[in-house]
Amino acid sequence: MTDAPPPEYKGPQRVFSGMQPTNGLHLGNYLGALQKWVKLQDSFECIYCVVDLHAITTGPDPENLASRCREVAAAYVAAGVDPKRSIIFVQSAVREHTELAWIFNCVARMGWVERMTQFKDKAGKDAQRSSVGLFDYPVLQAADILLYKATHVPVGEDQKQHLELSRDIAQKFNNDHNAPAFFPLPEPLIQGPGARIMSLRDGSKKMSKSDLSDMSRINMTDDADTIMSKIKKATTDSMPVPESKEGLAGRAEVENLVGIFAAVTERSVEDVLAEFGGKGFGVFKPALAETLASKLSPIAAEMRRLNADTAALDAILKDGAEKARAIAQPIMAEVRDVVGLWRA
Ligand code: TRP
Repeated sequence: MTDAPPPEYKGPQRVFSGMQPTNGLHLGNYLGALQKWVKLQDSFECIYCVVDLHAITTGPDPENLASRCREVAAAYVAAGVDPKRSIIFVQSAVREHTELAWIFNCVARMGWVERMTQFKDKAGKDAQRSSVGLFDYPVLQAADILLYKATHVPVGEDQKQHLELSRDIAQKFNNDHNAPAFFPLPEPLIQGPGARIMSLRDGSKKMSKSDLSDMSRINMTDDADTIMSKIKKATTDSMPVPESKEGLAGRAEVENLVGIFAAVTERSVEDVLAEFGGKGFGVFKPALAETLASKLSPIAAEMRRLNADTAALDAILKDGAEKARAIAQPIMAEVRDVVGLWRA
């Protein structure tokens, strides 16, 4: 006899995602996340968080943490996340994130968390000296998502394993408490070209703000001339743009540029190759640079405007935190009941 499948989760379809408050957002953040977040607003109730509690896992920065949060929130809004339709807030403004994280610490198993490859990468050789918070990072991430009973989570490839952990935690919590459909098992949304934006210099490395060479990335605030010169100098080879996807094999840098073009124009890779296949990079690169500049310039201008108007941005974040609390607090009260915690 096989077990009956678990009952379906019946709550609303809801998206949750977050980004750490880092300055220096780049094209990878825009195409890999923000542009997709904006789209999702058409089909879901969306909650977008700036995760400052995650940021302190790698060290304190009390002077700059708040301004880093504002900068990232400004990028959300400038990219097109609409504070009237979606919830935009800073994680630590909703205390329940940490409360649920503790409960999940008691659900997650050591073996599950020890398997997380991102911790191993971030902690490096000396894991013993990294913070317990860095180890526990993915458990807090599960709390972020499930505090809102989010059903869908747009994330990059590198966060897939963390999302699987969130599903495992949700499942075990439901089983352990005999509450079969209490938490949904959140689904990753990882799709389309632009899921992975690579360095302009080395197609095997992700585009990253920590790359020493600024030429390796397009920053969200780069102006048109800078974008043009970075794209012109981007690594390619001497062959023309291929006519089909098979022709991208073994040409990681070319594949990346074509993927960027497809993502930014919201076209398929096939479609882009149908237009540029057989043409040289002397044609393709200027077209790409112009497209990027016309997409990013208005966003950069709006980011500058918002960053100069702290009061307006703070009002958005205050309103977002209130809306987030209105969802989180009743769910947290239910969790406390299900766990049998003291009714204070
Ligand atoms: N760990 C994510 C990242 O580095 C950020 C994050 C924190 C997140 N909490 C989340 C993403 C919840 C999605 C859902 O990109």
